[in-house]
Amino acid sequence: MKTVLSGIQPSGQLTLGNYIGAMKNFVKLQEDHRCYFMIVDLHAITVPQDPELLREQSAAVAALFIAAGIDPEKSAVFMQSHVPQHAELGWLMTTLTSMGELERMTQFKDKAEGKDSVGAGLFVYPSLMAADILLYNADLVPVGEDQKQHLELTRDLAGRFNHRYGEYFTVPEPYIPEVGARVMSLDDASKKMSKSNPNPGSYIALLDEPSVIRKKISRATTDSGSEVRYDPAAKPEVSNLMTIFSQCTGLSLAEVEKRFEGQMYGAFKKELAEAVVSVIEPLQQRYRDIRESGEMDRILARSAERARETAATTLAAVKERMGFLMPK
Ligand code: TYM
Repeated sequence: MKTVLSGIQPSGQLTLGNYIGAMKNFVKLQEDHRCYFMIVDLHAITVPQDPELLREQSAAVAALFIAAGIDPEKSAVFMQSHVPQHAELGWLMTTLTSMGELERMTQFKDKAEGKDSVGAGLFVYPSLMAADILLYNADLVPVGEDQKQHLELTRDLAGRFNHRYGEYFTVPEPYIPEVGARVMSLDDASKKMSKSNPNPGSYIALLDEPSVIRKKISRATTDSGSEVRYDPAAKPEVSNLMTIFSQCTGLSLAEVEKRFEGQMYGAFKKELAEAVVSVIEPLQQRYRDIRESGEMDRILARSAERARETAATTLAAVKERMGFLMPK
């Protein structure tokens, strides 16, 4: 059975982009893979976080994983910081990574742009991400398009380690959806939908009230045309909305196009809002149930225990190969 690992940062509200680009595939893959899904709190602190807010968002993201359909009987759902081997292998991976490789990371360049002071953690972020994946010898990593470059670095680091110290790590493959790998902002289709965008109208949060979702979609930017046609170059806004429609209904893009032939944007947006609400409303109900049940702590503890077992075995093997004097 192949192993799958992925993570989501508990920084800000999770969006429909996170759901379509990543979580939906977590749910799908758990049926026939050994899965590890993490709330990557150690990554979240690479930018300043309010401690109380970080704690609340971590609990919220954990519950959203379950609400989205991850079954804790099948998959491990845990906090990255509950498995200390992440930080330790992260350091070992940092020593295998070159400055040049990290300087080329577009996510770092985007996040550091225009800042007076940039934390060193933000710079070495990709080495920790590589450690996350390699600790479990993951074969597949379901992510959105924006994480592709980090995955390539992970593959390079795995290969470098194997070359220097003998074959050990599995070189992981990204698992990126064909449609929905990059859901764009509702107000600007040149930017990806992001929880860190200061304008909440630009994204749909998984915990937005249905009335807010309807309003945001009705205000989403379109173009001066009137055709619901998939053409990302000429009609980026409408194409993005069609992608969302397709992902929320299971219809292909061609079927979406056909369904709205001869109709105006207004009618399309109305149906789109209902399609999104029909996915998000039951998810929110499950979210509230889980938070109220108080079950999450037990799920996190049990999953972390499972994860630590595998992580400890890997870390010991890695340290042995790298030449550490092992405790007897
Ligand atoms: P993060 O927290 O930014 O995003 C979580 C996942 O959601 C995807 N995503 C999107 N997909 C489509 N459209 C969008 N607009 C959109 N926005 C976000 C991301 O691609 C990601 O898959 N570095 C990672 C977290 C991480 C990780 C890992 C992932 C840490 N360690 C190990 C995989 C394996 C990140 O910042 O994701």
